[in-house]
Amino acid sequence: MKATARACSNIALIKYWGNRNDALRLPANPSISFNLADLFTATRVVFDPALQEDEVVIDEQPASPEAARRVSAHLDLVQANRPRAQVISSNNFPMGAGIASSASAFAALTVAACAALRLPKPEAELSALARRGSGSASRSVPGGIVAWRDASAWTIAAPDHWPLVDVIGVVAAGHKKVGSTEGHALAGTSPLQAARVADAERRFGLCLRAIETRDFGLLADVIEQDALMMHGVMMTSDPSLMYWLPGTLAILHAVREMRAAGVPVAFTIDAGPNVHCICEADAVRDVVAALDALQGVQSTLVSGIGGPAQVILPQSAG
Ligand code: PMV
Repeated sequence: MKATARACSNIALIKYWGNRNDALRLPANPSISFNLADLFTATRVVFDPALQEDEVVIDEQPASPEAARRVSAHLDLVQANRPRAQVISSNNFPMGAGIASSASAFAALTVAACAALRLPKPEAELSALARRGSGSASRSVPGGIVAWRDASAWTIAAPDHWPLVDVIGVVAAGHKKVGSTEGHALAGTSPLQAARVADAERRFGLCLRAIETRDFGLLADVIEQDALMMHGVMMTSDPSLMYWLPGTLAILHAVREMRAAGVPVAFTIDAGPNVHCICEADAVRDVVAALDALQGVQSTLVSGIGGPAQVILPQSAG
């Protein structure tokens, strides 16, 4: 009763922020992301009735009680009355780089647990289960460029349709002070959230069109507006969530300057200070060089578009 699975992290182009149902993690608005091929989590799940309690190890350290409880609760959702489990999870991206790992973590955990329990499930069901652990995890189950609106996420384009790259400018490492579960619950306290949600279908539609037609200018305008609308909601919620640091703003200006000079690059920002610079493959070198030259940028991480979550070691092995 064991299996190991691997899932990529993802970066949202149209952001998910706020739930229409917090308990079920059903999103207030549709979102679009792409999987990050080079930033992933590998998780091994071993079900063993002889264990006294669940054991959870993340990046070679025993998980915090809170993280361990979240993992156990997720396994209970996968199968009620399940045997106890040992879960060993590791991220290939630097620990504490401030890059969200919940999407890849819950996608990998879901796929590994279902394989270990010999519960074959279609991709949509795996995505819906992963969603219950972390909303954005629903988008790390299918491959390529992915959309999510209701129970589960689906692929809208294969990785090679438009080989975009994410160049992440790391401005601050370490865990964010307010996690996204808490943040989603605060979204509705901002008077701007209703307007953001009401306009979401328009942005979603424009982003779909930009992807379909590989129109970088259209993509740049809509993803930057979408990220700024989410941060507008965050900054104006009660309490206010202010994730930006001086280095964040320095990157935003640098990206706009580069684009004005003809470089196909645009920014997006998650619930943290780091900036994801989305660009076409031939711009990567220039973008990395520009970020490296900025004060306040500690390092850069680069990733192209990745595939679906997958079992990498089946029940019988490892
Ligand atoms: O899946 P969560 O609860 O970690 O929320 C993710 C929220 C953002 O990363 C800010 C946006 C998104 O759509 O991924």
